[in-house]
Amino acid sequence: MTQATRKILVTNALPYANGPIHLGHMLGYIQADIWVRFQKFRGNECHYMCADDAHGTPIMLKAQQLGIAPEDMIAEMNAAHQRDFGDFHVAFDHYYSTHSPENRELAETIYRRLRDNDHIKTRVIEQLYDPQQEMFLPDRFVKGECPSCGAADQYGDNCDVCGATYAPTELKNPKSVVSGAEPELRQSEHYFFDLPAFNDMLKAWTRSGSLQEEMANKLNEWFEQGLQQWDISRDAPYFGFEIPDAPGKYFYVWLDAPIGYMSSFKHYCDQTGNANWDEYWQADSETELYHFIGKDIIYFHSLFWPAMLKGANFRQPNNVWAHGFITVNGTKMSKSKGTFIMARTYLEHLDPEYLRYYFAAKLTSRIDDLDLNLTDFAQRVNSDLVGKVVNIASRCASFITKKFDGKLSANLPEQELLADFQNAAAGLAEAYEKREFSKAMRDIMALADRANQYIADKEPWQLIKDPEKADEVHEICSVGINLFRLLMIYLTPVVPELAKRVQSFLNNEFTWDSHKQLLTDHQVNKFSALLKRVEMDTVNAMIEDSKEAQQQPATAVTTSNEELANDPISETIQFEDFAKLDLRVALIANAEHVEGADKLLKLTLDLGGETRQVFAGIKSAYDPATLIGQHTVMVANLAPRKMRFGLSEGMVLAAGPGGSELYIMNPHAGAKPGMRVK
Ligand code: MSP
Ligand code: ZN
Repeated sequence: MTQATRKILVTNALPYANGPIHLGHMLGYIQADIWVRFQKFRGNECHYMCADDAHGTPIMLKAQQLGIAPEDMIAEMNAAHQRDFGDFHVAFDHYYSTHSPENRELAETIYRRLRDNDHIKTRVIEQLYDPQQEMFLPDRFVKGECPSCGAADQYGDNCDVCGATYAPTELKNPKSVVSGAEPELRQSEHYFFDLPAFNDMLKAWTRSGSLQEEMANKLNEWFEQGLQQWDISRDAPYFGFEIPDAPGKYFYVWLDAPIGYMSSFKHYCDQTGNANWDEYWQADSETELYHFIGKDIIYFHSLFWPAMLKGANFRQPNNVWAHGFITVNGTKMSKSKGTFIMARTYLEHLDPEYLRYYFAAKLTSRIDDLDLNLTDFAQRVNSDLVGKVVNIASRCASFITKKFDGKLSANLPEQELLADFQNAAAGLAEAYEKREFSKAMRDIMALADRANQYIADKEPWQLIKDPEKADEVHEICSVGINLFRLLMIYLTPVVPELAKRVQSFLNNEFTWDSHKQLLTDHQVNKFSALLKRVEMDTVNAMIEDSKEAQQQPATAVTTSNEELANDPISETIQFEDFAKLDLRVALIANAEHVEGADKLLKLTLDLGGETRQVFAGIKSAYDPATLIGQHTVMVANLAPRKMRFGLSEGMVLAAGPGGSELYIMNPHAGAKPGMRVK
């Protein structure tokens, strides 16, 4: 009996386009990916959508700071994000951008419908304005002294020291983070979405009973405080979409961001014809819609978003599933400790499937934070995936290959054990469906223990010594391989690449339902190592690579080494000779690998007004991602040189013999791009 195919649309929160993906981000994308893969594996129609969240003040200012157009910055970031997700085997069916024609059109449609249904109000508000930069300042772009405890250097919305929350206008001695100027109060007309009008509808959705308990509690708190109108407009300059009937006013980034779920799906439907957009979004849609998000953005997804959809006559989500935050080694990810790990840095050292498994082993359907303890991570992966699961195959496969021509026996004893493994499918499917991945992983590992115990009890390596017992060994190992296969079927949504290698070893293609069959009298391929152990050395190297450039030691250290002996100081020059060199402080606006070059990184250096492209032979020592945003020193008046990969317009200064021992110059904090070094 097959159940009717479900039609499911899944999204994960859209990452901001102003920075690289880190391991904290990865939690949600991997969680949703496992759920989607499970749905597809069972034969359901499921579409997994994502996009970059490309609008807003931070993105506008970051592009300004890099001296490039925001469109160029978000395009580059989009490509980098897609590479990171792809390499973690997060298989979006479509990855788009909120800065797209489809998103503009849908944002306008939704706005117009809300306005025509009388859900948009306007009112004049007072806000801090940066007279030098000529822009209104978001709360996070004002700093000053906390009105409550007096702590210096606090943001405009809350105090890190005493925890007080306040309006930016209450800060003492406020300064614009953008220009340093003292902000002034200015008035401006803003557009508001009338959230309180949706009070009853939202309460009904909260009471539907299907929300996560913590989410329902949060919502109830917010209802008690009373819903407020939501400010959806921002004044120019702003990077976003202009409001159709309000020149100079833009949609606040959070208005068009979730619409990105719809527009990504729109672009996908238009491009591939794989689904019918209207069927999924019309008010009376019978398809399923789920949003995976982090706990910090619940308000947007469980109040504003369903209300906006309702007010614009679109369907509402079936559910919004929040997850907790990642900590590393028990604390907030930290750049100085090297635990603020970028997705790319991880990938340069470790197999993505380790992390996928570790997250799965710890994820529940609740909103608890999840600690990535790196020692536990290595142990868990080694003991579970390598030591338990893959071990079953390693123990049985060589006998099958060497003694039985790679063929599994026609007869399988241990029907009960095999049936137990097959019957586990229903419970595991339920756990996957409910996002209780840690339960699924626990149950799978308990089965793996039983499989290993079975093999240990039978001791095929002893029996094989007796030629009379060859058939018995053949059957034991064939049972072992079948048990291994069943476990790998169940693990496929979590470790899809490992599962692929196993499928080619077994010469057998998996679907979820294929657990119902066993392999008898079946030819398998030669066994080769399926998964390496995690080495702590590798984990430590990743942490080292994640550490921010170390501060200079405060006191000079006396050194005695062979540097001078090997490379004596050159002959004396006059000051005029030195003055010919134009050395400048430069911001590394971008750093990337160069295809086909094994020594070079391509750097984009910002001199505070002009940018230079420089090819630097520092690939052996630096992960480009770690260089972006750092200051360095360059020779700015060196004649440009044509290289195989393009024009190099200058040179960065570095010391060291080479290989991993190369150190680029890094001026003390405060130095600004363009400053002359003299
Ligand atoms: N752009 C918004 C989302 C718009 S959705 C219409 C945003 N972007 S984000 O880049 O800050 O975060 C993307 C996702 O990563 C969010 O779900 C966020 O909760 C999640 N995480 C970011 N840091 C995280 C951890 N340290 N741990 C777990 N998830 C985290 O928010
Ligand atoms: Zn304070």
